[in-house]
Amino acid sequence: MRRDLSSRLPQHPVDWWRRAVFYQIYPRSFADSNGDGVGDLDGVTAHLDYLESVGIDAIWLNPINPSPLDDWGYDISDYCGIHPELGDLAAFERLIAAAHRRGIRVIVDLVPNHTSDQHPWFVESRASRTSPKRDWYIWIPGTADRPPSNWESYFGGSTWKFDPATAAWYLHMFLEQQPDLNYRNPEVVAAMHDVIRFWLERGADGFRIDVVQGLIKDEQLRDNPVRGVRDPDIPWYAEGSQDPLYSSDRPEVHEIIRGFRRVSDDYKDRILVGETWPREQERLADYLRPDELQLAFNFRFLLARYDARRFRAAIELTEKSFGPGAWPTWTLSNHDFPRHISRFARHGDADARARVAAMMLLTLRGTPFIYYGEEIGMRDAEVAAASKRDPVGRDGCRSPMQWSDARNGGFSTNAKTWLPCGDFKAVNVARQMNDPRSMLSLYRRLIELRRSTPAIVEGSYRELEGAPEDCLVFHRETATQHIVVALNFSAEPRAIDLHGGKILLSTIDTRAAGSTKSPLTLAPDEGVIVMVEA
Ligand code: GLC
Repeated sequence: MRRDLSSRLPQHPVDWWRRAVFYQIYPRSFADSNGDGVGDLDGVTAHLDYLESVGIDAIWLNPINPSPLDDWGYDISDYCGIHPELGDLAAFERLIAAAHRRGIRVIVDLVPNHTSDQHPWFVESRASRTSPKRDWYIWIPGTADRPPSNWESYFGGSTWKFDPATAAWYLHMFLEQQPDLNYRNPEVVAAMHDVIRFWLERGADGFRIDVVQGLIKDEQLRDNPVRGVRDPDIPWYAEGSQDPLYSSDRPEVHEIIRGFRRVSDDYKDRILVGETWPREQERLADYLRPDELQLAFNFRFLLARYDARRFRAAIELTEKSFGPGAWPTWTLSNHDFPRHISRFARHGDADARARVAAMMLLTLRGTPFIYYGEEIGMRDAEVAAASKRDPVGRDGCRSPMQWSDARNGGFSTNAKTWLPCGDFKAVNVARQMNDPRSMLSLYRRLIELRRSTPAIVEGSYRELEGAPEDCLVFHRETATQHIVVALNFSAEPRAIDLHGGKILLSTIDTRAAGSTKSPLTLAPDEGVIVMVEA
């Protein structure tokens, strides 16, 4: 029996995933329950009380399936199993049950675009040109000197790998150990539907779907053109780089997503969250439809500089391109990029800046995703050359969660952790737990305020006119409640014209709560939430 999970959130006809605060867990790095130096599912279960105390409504687990780990779990060799280092299906079921008891939902990573080259499907596909699974992957017969198209892998080099045994090329948008499945083959579609059912039957509340825009490629394999317009927030969308016009974001992908959604809708209250990198930001909302994805990651903040103008542009673009039906998401950090606090440290007071960013994340219109450790201001770990694990250098942001100042930051009792730990003496949960000025306390208060303030969750969004360029000031309003969020991204004090109100929360601890008069002077790198009197 599934418990009714709606009781914990205030009763309201709004879908749970619009109200929820999500928390991303990189399972290998969260908590090691069996002392082997690798985090695992029982480790996550053991820390659910902590997540509940932070106010988390839902967690997303990075891939937990068996994998040779060429891409740390994004190269799956069995979609319906658990990687032995992380536990087993019984551990997964324990985690789901314990999370649901606390009203916390759990979504898992679905990686449908590609498998590992060790997956039995690919092993069979590769065996011969006449193998029954040959057409499950994208094979193009040819000669070793002429790849079928000019497409570039996201990890560098050609997307095509020549297999001399059968004199044919296969497609891999990522590593050559990650061959792409062929979604023009209905058997592949049906197999993936079975995978979706498998996890939904076991109580998963939905999926984060990996590279969803890439699931289908141009049938004629036309060459990609060169990108015309650069995007200031996404470094690889540079002028002169390849525009994945024919290898990604194809019109046919929407039918594949609709198929996934039909399966998911056979179960109550489940969601699909896309990892979506559309070729242009304006196309993101195309994936958010009543019969496609409920949510899609919006990556504008993941790479943006700490600059009110950049954040404003990202929000405006999102608000403008999302129709009333499409609901935004916001993310400051994830497992693929340097943590925002480490990025912000390059030019200023990283802690103060991360506090302002947290206030922005948790008060914008849309669903926030917190990356594990962000709530304590965890920085990227220094990873020496000999300890590097990831083929494309993403280890720093995947280091073990810092629970305390004990050995390995309380993450593991093993002498060696799978990745080196960061500076857990300075930054850890235990130290911040009871300190009202800590980053953790700020996150908790923001989440609490969000939960108890309908305007923050469901109110309209409107920028305050006339605010200084280097501040981001916006209204969140319902018919009965009016909030203003004022964020100073500059290193100087800034005056904001408000019509009076009551300060509910500030990112700095020297500001007294209570009424405020206009103008309100914000300290450098200060954010405040003001309840405007009706
Ligand atoms: C996504 C994941 C990333 C992975 C890639 C290939 O971008 O977030 O970690 O390497 O897909 O699966």
